[in-house]
Amino acid sequence: MTRGAIFALVLCLMGAAVMGEDPYLYFTWNVTYGTISPLGIDQQGILINGQFPGPEINSTSNNNVVVNVFNNLDEPLLFTWHGVQQRKNSWQDGTLGTQCPIAPGTNYTYKFQVKDQIGSFFYYPTVGMQRAAGGFGGLRINSRLLIPVPYADPEDEYWVLIGDWYGKSHKTLQSTLDSGRNIGRPDGVHINGKNDVVGSGKAIYTMKPGKTYKYRICNVGLKDSLNFRIQGHPMKLVESEGSHTVQNIYDSLDVHVGQCFSVLVTADKEPKSYYMVASTRFTKKALTGKAIISYTNGVGPASPLIPLAPVGWAWSLNQFRSFRWNLTASAARPNPQGSYHYGQINITRTIKFVNSVSNVNGKLRYAINGVSHVDTETPLKLAEYYGLSDKVFKYNIIGDVPPASLDNIKLATNVLNTTFRTFIEIIFENPTKTIQSYNLAGYSFFAVAVEPGTWSPEKRKNYNLLDAISRHTIQVFPKSWAAIMLTFDNAGMWNLRSENAENRYLGQQLYISVLSPERSLRDEYNLPERQLVCGIVKDLPRPTPSYS
Ligand SMILES: *[C@@H]1O[C@H](CO)[C@@H](O)[C@H](O)[C@H]1NC(C)=O
Ligand SMILES: *[C@@H]1O[C@H](CO)[C@@H](O)[C@H](O)[C@H]1NC(C)=O
Ligand SMILES: *[C@@H]1O[C@H](CO)[C@@H](O)[C@H](O)[C@H]1NC(C)=O
Ligand SMILES: *[C@@H]1O[C@H](CO)[C@@H](O)[C@H](O)[C@H]1NC(C)=O
Ligand SMILES: *[C@@H]1O[C@H](CO)[C@@H](O)[C@H](O)[C@H]1NC(C)=O
Ligand SMILES: *[C@@H]1O[C@H](CO)[C@@H](O)[C@H](O)[C@H]1NC(C)=O
Repeated sequence: MTRGAIFALVLCLMGAAVMGEDPYLYFTWNVTYGTISPLGIDQQGILINGQFPGPEINSTSNNNVVVNVFNNLDEPLLFTWHGVQQRKNSWQDGTLGTQCPIAPGTNYTYKFQVKDQIGSFFYYPTVGMQRAAGGFGGLRINSRLLIPVPYADPEDEYWVLIGDWYGKSHKTLQSTLDSGRNIGRPDGVHINGKNDVVGSGKAIYTMKPGKTYKYRICNVGLKDSLNFRIQGHPMKLVESEGSHTVQNIYDSLDVHVGQCFSVLVTADKEPKSYYMVASTRFTKKALTGKAIISYTNGVGPASPLIPLAPVGWAWSLNQFRSFRWNLTASAARPNPQGSYHYGQINITRTIKFVNSVSNVNGKLRYAINGVSHVDTETPLKLAEYYGLSDKVFKYNIIGDVPPASLDNIKLATNVLNTTFRTFIEIIFENPTKTIQSYNLAGYSFFAVAVEPGTWSPEKRKNYNLLDAISRHTIQVFPKSWAAIMLTFDNAGMWNLRSENAENRYLGQQLYISVLSPERSLRDEYNLPERQLVCGIVKDLPRPTPSYS
């Protein structure tokens, strides 16, 4: 072959790689009520294809995931794919600001791509307090075969979905919140939907002696931070919320609501059974959930001596600081403004969000910068797309700085806009006595600092501007602050929410609208053909593609 011919062939192969569509994974989900007993007592739960927790979505970077959801509940339903960035595609993000809910007795097909991401994530239902009844499951994004992973292939992979749990149904919890009261303390903690209180002896997972396993741990609960540990088995942290981490060894991990970790555990101890334990942190009375793992052909029960959880905030803060990004590991990772060096990019805007809680007309409400969010019947994204946003909401009713007094909480639809592709610093300040956990949909951000006290510009000198991990959920300890940085390069309407289900339900969330000035398909997809429409746009003709 001549050099020209080789060149043409290479071009042609490159073309095929570009043109060829990424593989599709298809799922059909039948969502129903069913009996579950995470705390040993029967109660009504939300099942997916009869399962609680729901089935795993096992995907590989860049796969297209198609999930046809049949809603056989008696309520509207939406799922969010927590941590999946939905590039150009807030249409599929599954919150009431982006999608019309799936009506009972109908089905809707989600279609999204797990673009340039790896790691352990999960999905959950977002309408009302449905998450308190189940409907959650693991969402795994494997590295593509050609991309090296910074550790040897584990023998197997196991999900560990942990969460606090209420014995009351989600509807009861909802009506308590609607009546203006809080839902109080949870009744227990589950691991994968069960709590092995009595020590049934039944192992949920088995390990072969000498082999190493990956455990994917996520806190799918409603309000409590959980400490997770395995009797006698240290954990090597390898990934967190999409970032390969520096591989430190931990005896236990604090997992805040909405966060995930992947760890490696080697079965190199006496071959018998062991407890996995998840217990609440920072609560007066600790609640504990247990599950058993065993060795193949292992003999002997798990010891009843449960390892204790650490005490106090400082431990947790130090653990946060020990999480570092492995800068040399190759993987899809955020590349703000074409540079991996996020610490060298100039900040164009600083937004400070302060959370508060107060009564409004005698009813409990939670707020960000004094505004407690109210969902609209017309999803914000649809209103914006149809050019009718002024009929549905007002942009920027809160400023970049919180008002002097946070006591007067106002109920309103809370939408901020940011300029496409700008690099922004967000400070979360938590003056309350309860821990917060914030998630930003559509993005992964650099969590550069978490510190006690209040934030001031001088605190920037304490930021980790080198190897903070890029993640989707950050905790803010009581009377503390956290700082994150990111480039707003994913056009769409994105939910910023407290992962604390009570806070979120009662208004501690907002939306960030990011519009690309060119309205180009390169930056954002058009309204999908199958997208449900509702509210004021229901009977309107669909705008001819506004993006091209
Ligand atoms: C969903 O499950 C329910 C209860 O098992 C069953 O009655 C129904 O036929 C199922 N629907 C579909 C679409 O599979
Ligand atoms: C998940 O997908 C990976 C990659 O395709 C495959 O190797 C693995 O066996 C799958 N695991 C399960 C539990 O389906
Ligand atoms: C509902 O399910 C049917 C049968 O699988 C499918 O053909 C149809 O496209 C689905 N409808 C929506 C809106 O996803
Ligand atoms: C980071 O990743 C590299 C490349 O895969 C690996 O060799 C190295 O051991 C990792 N470093 C740490 C500290 O985990
Ligand atoms: C950031 O700002 C500094 C000071 O204004 C300026 O000197 C520098 O060139 C800017 N860097 C970039 C990458 O824009
Ligand atoms: C925010 O939206 C308003 C109203 O559409 C617009 O005038 C303003 O330019 C936008 N600001 C940004 C930063 O995009």
